[in-house]
Amino acid sequence: MSTEFFQDLFAERIGGKEFGLKTELYKFAKIKLAKKNAKEKFPDVNLIDMGVGEPDTAANEAIVKVLCEQAGLKENRFYSDNGIIEFQEAAARYMDKVYGIKGLDPEKNIVHGIGSKPVLAMVPAMFINPGDIALMTKPGYGVLGTYTRYYGGSTYDLPLTEENDFYPDLDSIPQDVLDKAKMLYINYPNNPTGQVATKEFFEKVVKFAKDNHIMVVHDAAYAAVTFDGVKPLSIFSVEGAMDVALEIHSMSKAYNMTGWRLAFVVGNERVVKAYGTVKDNTDSGQFRAIQKAGVYALDHPELTEKICEKYSRRFALLVDALNELGFNVKKPHGTFYCYARAPKGAKGVTFNNAEEASTYLIENALISTVPWDDAGHYLRFSVTFEASEEEEQNIINEMKERLKKLELVF
Ligand SMILES: Cc1ncc(COP(=O)(O)O)c(C=O)c1O
Repeated sequence: MSTEFFQDLFAERIGGKEFGLKTELYKFAKIKLAKKNAKEKFPDVNLIDMGVGEPDTAANEAIVKVLCEQAGLKENRFYSDNGIIEFQEAAARYMDKVYGIKGLDPEKNIVHGIGSKPVLAMVPAMFINPGDIALMTKPGYGVLGTYTRYYGGSTYDLPLTEENDFYPDLDSIPQDVLDKAKMLYINYPNNPTGQVATKEFFEKVVKFAKDNHIMVVHDAAYAAVTFDGVKPLSIFSVEGAMDVALEIHSMSKAYNMTGWRLAFVVGNERVVKAYGTVKDNTDSGQFRAIQKAGVYALDHPELTEKICEKYSRRFALLVDALNELGFNVKKPHGTFYCYARAPKGAKGVTFNNAEEASTYLIENALISTVPWDDAGHYLRFSVTFEASEEEEQNIINEMKERLKKLELVF
């Protein structure tokens, strides 16, 4: 079998004639390889996986029950196209109940998505012409930036640094970039830094958008995953945000429904219509039975609160352990990520970056994290490791013992 036929047909946006020929490994492939090497070296030791970017438990059984009941019903068999009104109505109720956003019109202000990832892939089709710029926070979830480049636009990175409390410095953007920028992508609570938004931050963002005529895409994938007194916050809690922003909510993290693929977009009538137009030309909607299970979930936000209690409990254990080891971390108030400055070395070795540190932790302690070298050098520890409540403390103790032996240097 030859794969040559395709080689000079591939589009430049995915590498053109060079596509698939490079042997360079990317971050997640390197982590996978390091895990494989470590398992071979220590076949009897459990890998403690703090690198996972999704919940460790299944969706609540009541949500699953609705799916089971609905899956076989004849009326649910059709393409759902741009969605069923029941889901949009439930999303409007949810936005009111959880975020205090009143008066959304389910028909005009809300359309579902097959997860927020494909929504982020579609938004550039709504706004980006060749030469336009998308402002992207970095480190971050890059899908919107990738598609901006696919459409002939470019991205301008806004570093999220500890010095700036992991918020983008909007005042630092040069005028020539602002002139070409059409979109600002933000995501709070933030992956990977764990930072949460404040109303003041959103106010600043909305003012920036108005002053510079740049629309805001708020990726709210973790917006409901907050704890320790921090309430879920929508950008629409700010006066005037409806004029300039689009917000994308997801069922993935708030309801442990990652594989189910269900999200929804909120915005003003015109921008939601633009999303609906692109969406209609892209997919035929999520299975109605899944949307109906989604209705149940959205009407039971207390299910998210239970999930958040677990993350908060686990963070308390993890943060104490990391600080005892010499990391300097604060307990996050949202997401399931703890973003810790990477150690500079271990006994007898120096790390040049977080990727080297992360690989060393996997290969020498069987502890998996995700390295970020975009703005400083950090390791992302996720509290979605697999464990029952009773086992949590033991896992953290085990992690601590293993890391202690490495004699990390900070
Ligand atoms: C910041 C961020 N946005 C969006 C997504 C995608 O979520 P969904 O499952 O809704 O596609 C993720 C998933 O990890 C994420 O971390």
